[in-house]
Amino acid sequence: MHKLAQLDRDYVWHPFTQMRDWAKREPIILERGKGSVLMDVHGKKYLDGNASIWTNLHGHNHPRLNRAIKAQLDKISHSSSLGLANKPASLLAEKLVKAGGRPLKKVFFSDNGSTALEVALKMSYEYNRRIGRARSPRFLSLGGGYHGDTVGAASLGQIELFRQSCNGLLFKADKVISPNCYRCPFNKAKPDRRDARIGRKCKWECIGKLEVKLSSRKYGALVLEPLIQGAAGMIMHPSGWLKRAVRAARNSGTQVIADEVMTGFGRTGTIFAVQRENAVPDYLCLAKGMTGGYLPMAATLTTQDVFDVFLGEYDEFKSFFHGHSYTGNQLGSAAALASWELLKDSKGRARRKVLEKMLACELETLWQLAAVGDVRQEGLVAGVELVDDWQTRKPFPLKAQVGARVCEQMANRGILTRPIGNVVPLLPPYCTTDAQMRRMVRALRESIIEVLGGPRV
Ligand SMILES: Cc1ncc(COP(=O)(O)O)c(C=O)c1O
Repeated sequence: MHKLAQLDRDYVWHPFTQMRDWAKREPIILERGKGSVLMDVHGKKYLDGNASIWTNLHGHNHPRLNRAIKAQLDKISHSSSLGLANKPASLLAEKLVKAGGRPLKKVFFSDNGSTALEVALKMSYEYNRRIGRARSPRFLSLGGGYHGDTVGAASLGQIELFRQSCNGLLFKADKVISPNCYRCPFNKAKPDRRDARIGRKCKWECIGKLEVKLSSRKYGALVLEPLIQGAAGMIMHPSGWLKRAVRAARNSGTQVIADEVMTGFGRTGTIFAVQRENAVPDYLCLAKGMTGGYLPMAATLTTQDVFDVFLGEYDEFKSFFHGHSYTGNQLGSAAALASWELLKDSKGRARRKVLEKMLACELETLWQLAAVGDVRQEGLVAGVELVDDWQTRKPFPLKAQVGARVCEQMANRGILTRPIGNVVPLLPPYCTTDAQMRRMVRALRESIIEVLGGPRV
């Protein structure tokens, strides 16, 4: 066993991992990266098929990002935002506000996706109390929604498995049906192809149910992942759902928290997913890709209206009492500014469009496989749902670990991604080449065949 593997086994506790299983095999120990390629300590190369858990945008070891970070490093790495300002954070805030859309005027920086949600949650809670809408505002989130692991963010989540382990600790957030067309109880379309996902006779029962829920009480906010529910299994919402949902919230006077921790920064085609449907949230939560996947940093954007509610005389104590030691970190902000320039580059945008089409084309071949129930794609996010019976959409039991087994085979073929139950995600970094994209999907196809068998009969 490699000595680093032994150190890992002896001392490291990994997230979302059954450590008894982890200890049974030697882990992949990554040492280097270049573009979409990762290299382990033995020199074996892999493709980064999930952009290092949905964070990396432009590839690893990018010269422009490296240069920006090194230049910042030579000046200063970090100074506190408590009582002090700094240049890269101010420049970054301006860029985010200008891109975020008109009502979003202020940026509150934090460290990761969960804290971006905590900030939005606490702001919204206090805002609703101060305007007199509710004394103890409740929140509404979607079935299968995931918003992070800190206690507040986890309370907004609706994945039962994650809630169970610390249920008594979490506060109650109400749940409303998510627009999961593939598993929609009202979808009677034949499950044989892509168009089976969105029932042709859909009557938008999910929006009807949301409207009923929103009218049942004065919620603080509706919390949602726009266009794609990532941890729910890359559930892609039907076109138009987001716009309708935000309108329904507006009509009931409910704020909207858009969690773009995964979808932000070009993943779904536009810079932010809400822009695809001209939806305007009261809070926009950003993290993961913000620094190009280099450094942990997050932002919560909000409106002037919310900001103003926290203004007052010093001894009114209306300040937003929240902050982290690394808020507005200078190195992270410098990385985010460099990543932003790459993201806005027109050649890069055109390339993302080409990659999107190519991914769709390659994924098409998976529909022939008996174990593939659904192939979903939105921008540069794909999710392949593995099923026991594609005709009835019967899922595999979680304990069969089919997603994990398929991903293990993919790793043997040099592609790294992490399953979400029975769903295999693919989120290539934007610098992925045509050949690398083909290799990713080919490895997925071969791995499914190896673990679960071949074509439908
Ligand atoms: C939509 C969404 N929100 C929040 C989070 C939490 O982000 P972090 O892991 O950076 O705390 C995630 C993480 O996957 C996410 O996908």
